[in-house]
Amino acid sequence: MMTNAPIGVYDSGMGGLTVWREVRRALPEESLVFLGDGKNCPYGSRSREEIQQLADAAVARLVKDEGCKMVVVACNTATAAAIDFLRAKYAPVPFVGMEPAVKPACLATQSGVVGVLATERSLDGDLFRRTAARYGVGIKVVTAPGRGFVELVERDREDSPEAEACVRAAVTDMLLRGADQIVLGCTHYPFLLPVLRRVLDGHSVSIVDPSPAVARRVVQLLDANSLRAEAGHVPEYRFLTFADEAYRRRLMLKAGAATAP
Ligand code: DGL
Repeated sequence: MMTNAPIGVYDSGMGGLTVWREVRRALPEESLVFLGDGKNCPYGSRSREEIQQLADAAVARLVKDEGCKMVVVACNTATAAAIDFLRAKYAPVPFVGMEPAVKPACLATQSGVVGVLATERSLDGDLFRRTAARYGVGIKVVTAPGRGFVELVERDREDSPEAEACVRAAVTDMLLRGADQIVLGCTHYPFLLPVLRRVLDGHSVSIVDPSPAVARRVVQLLDANSLRAEAGHVPEYRFLTFADEAYRRRLMLKAGAATAP
């Protein structure tokens, strides 16, 4: 049955597991195939063309080889560079991408200053510019690239003194400018939440993670396309990579960590 086919979830590496976790929680009867490229991570400073090619290879694997009925591009950088291209090339497969959660942050801010952490490529992209211009009217949006964040998560160093130093360096300026909301604009960054909370201790700042909203969008789109798995379907969870078997095993372990309460 097509409807029992899996949903594909793709990222440059391990970060997309933070979205995978929310999709799994929202849709416990859906099978999921997670593809964490791993071989070409990080994407953050690659060209748009290069990211389109990498995303194309990943989606071909998920749709053509794995028969996925829908694809979640759980990577802000790949969404910004390639989502339009992927939607056109793989129509009618429905796609859900990441959007920087600037809107909820702008609606919630009391200080009128919103901080956004993302990769350089995402902050440079049209998607971010358009979103910030649309929702940030009358609000100061202060951006900073999360330098080293993706690499720390990929090396399982997200809860280390090194990580704390990188996070502190990235948020200092936005805090000085009065940000009371910090948007996580890269799916790797929620893995740094324990460190981020320590660094923000004593500041009244809310952290905005878009992944629960992305999972809600997946639910809507499944329903709109009548693609939900049959009631009582027992899901399978698979993990793929373009890197090696050791990386694939680390993805599975990290997925376990991503599902811990
Ligand atoms: N998880 C990716 C994102 O959301 C990381 C990008 C990268 O590989 O640099 O942007």
